[in-house]
Amino acid sequence: MQSERLIFRNFNLDDLEDVYEFGSDKEVSKYVTWETHKSLLESEKILKDIFIANKYIFAIVEKNSNKCIGAFEFMPEIKNNSLCFGYVLNRKYWNKGYMSETLNFMLDYAFNYLKVNRVYGMHRKENIASGRVMEKCGLKIEGEFEDAEFLKGKYITLVYRAILRKNYKRG
Ligand SMILES: CC(C)(COP(=O)(O)OP(=O)(O)OC[C@H]1O[C@@H](n2cnc3c(N)ncnc32)[C@H](O)[C@@H]1OP(=O)(O)O)[C@@H](O)C(=O)NCCC(=O)NCCS
Repeated sequence: MQSERLIFRNFNLDDLEDVYEFGSDKEVSKYVTWETHKSLLESEKILKDIFIANKYIFAIVEKNSNKCIGAFEFMPEIKNNSLCFGYVLNRKYWNKGYMSETLNFMLDYAFNYLKVNRVYGMHRKENIASGRVMEKCGLKIEGEFEDAEFLKGKYITLVYRAILRKNYKRG
């Protein structure tokens, strides 16, 4: 699967160094639920046990460099015909529109191929970039949940955003 500048594919063992590169960056893991990877071995376990094992986790590959620069995950909720998503990008590639390009592609895949009814994501309130990506792709704020979770030693406020099939115009 591909968009203008990116390829989306399943992960493989050759992605280890690229996964370690973004997984071990404290700035990258600052707002996410998972902990910063502390070693290549830890990244290898995550790559094998989670990334490769899950067919709805996609490697985001830059066409120009053929490098794996991030990951996008869909978490299916089969009973509700809906998908929750999460994403991460290597810091060197931020603010180039790559995650907006990814989410736009994945929305098309979700609504026009998987035929789901609802796609939603959540981000920490202070994670402006993540909220902006969702906003640019047409997701609307559904609610803000103050101190919703206790994560990495403090309470965090979560913003939920979603788009419904009936409001998805393209395709
Ligand atoms: C969130 C993340 C995926 C965004 O990826 P990206 O490819 O840089 O996103 P895009 O370039 O498509 O869009 C980012 C937007 O946020 C804006 N932005 C970024 N930082 C900002 C800030 N501090 N204040 C205001 N706007 C900001 C950018 O200007 C851009 O908006 P624009 O196109 O209107 O100018 C990336 O920052 C990341 O991997 N962060 C760490 C992991 C993470 O937070 N994952 C999400 C958890 S919910």
